[in-house]
Amino acid sequence: MTKKKGRVFSGARPTGRQHLGNYLGAIKNYVALQDTYEDTIYCIVDVHALTTVETTSELKQNTYDMTLDWLAAGMRPDESMIFVQSHIPEVMELHTFLSMVTPLGKLTDLPTFKEKVRQQPHNINYGLVGYPVLMAADIALYKAVAVPVGVDQAPHLEFTREIVRSFNYRYNTNVLVEPQMVATEVPKVLGIDGKNKMGKSLNNHIELASTPKETQERVMQMVTDPQRARLSDPGNPDVCNVFTMHKIFSDAEEVERINDECRKAEIGCVACKKLFAKNLNENLMPFRERRAEFAQDPAYVWDVLNDGADRARVIAQETLSEVKEAIGLP
Ligand code: TRP
Repeated sequence: MTKKKGRVFSGARPTGRQHLGNYLGAIKNYVALQDTYEDTIYCIVDVHALTTVETTSELKQNTYDMTLDWLAAGMRPDESMIFVQSHIPEVMELHTFLSMVTPLGKLTDLPTFKEKVRQQPHNINYGLVGYPVLMAADIALYKAVAVPVGVDQAPHLEFTREIVRSFNYRYNTNVLVEPQMVATEVPKVLGIDGKNKMGKSLNNHIELASTPKETQERVMQMVTDPQRARLSDPGNPDVCNVFTMHKIFSDAEEVERINDECRKAEIGCVACKKLFAKNLNENLMPFRERRAEFAQDPAYVWDVLNDGADRARVIAQETLSEVKEAIGLP
């Protein structure tokens, strides 16, 4: 199979051990794109994290844990460049240049900025305002053509395109490349509360690297169809998060049977969840085995990141010198 030309770039904050939401929403897609594109670049955006994280004592461990999960999930470091954002400080230089073509009012109007203001009114810092400019710099520095992100990042991506256009227009150049968003079909992954998006901060997540027993315990806490109070009540799989998960992790026949039996009150939620836990654990087994292997050699994991940075830096420095040339810096 011939792969598409052009680079894929995506970034994720160092949130530590990854959960099902991270896997289904991002990692799975990152891994798949290695087969479709010649160049894939995946960055752990630790500088972005500083806009919201005030305590940094876990940053290193979180970076390590996340990398371990990425590798175990099938990222191939000999093909993809996997690196830590701050290891390539050129991105901050480009961020500064891009900031000169970015209208401040547009930054403060972004829904993502407004949301942060609501979430952390005590810490509305300058970096937070510039978050999308740094993201644009991430993408532009590597001249990425395709950026896989969730729909929540669509405004940021549109913004990146605008900044790139403004830069090229202002300096009458075409050194920067307008990227396309790769919106993948991602199931909306709810947490075990069945209500909110799965996430670490709400502690409603299921970690990929948990033991089978821990996984089962989390699954048994999952909220099912709230209308179904008794075992004898018929359930509605359409509104049940456990059923949504079954559709992802269980085979088609079993999904059909559960769908049918739930509606007829022939299977209870406990039995249904036990089945899901079993299937999920089976699905995750190869991942967990690989993860355990990588975990035996932490130096290797850090080497992957260093090597990724070494390869990415070559591109970064080239773009940056073109950018300076285009601006006309002395
Ligand atoms: N803003 C992204 C998020 O929160 C993370 C990110 C930073 C990113 N830089 C990026 C994503 C560049 C794609 C491309 O999910």
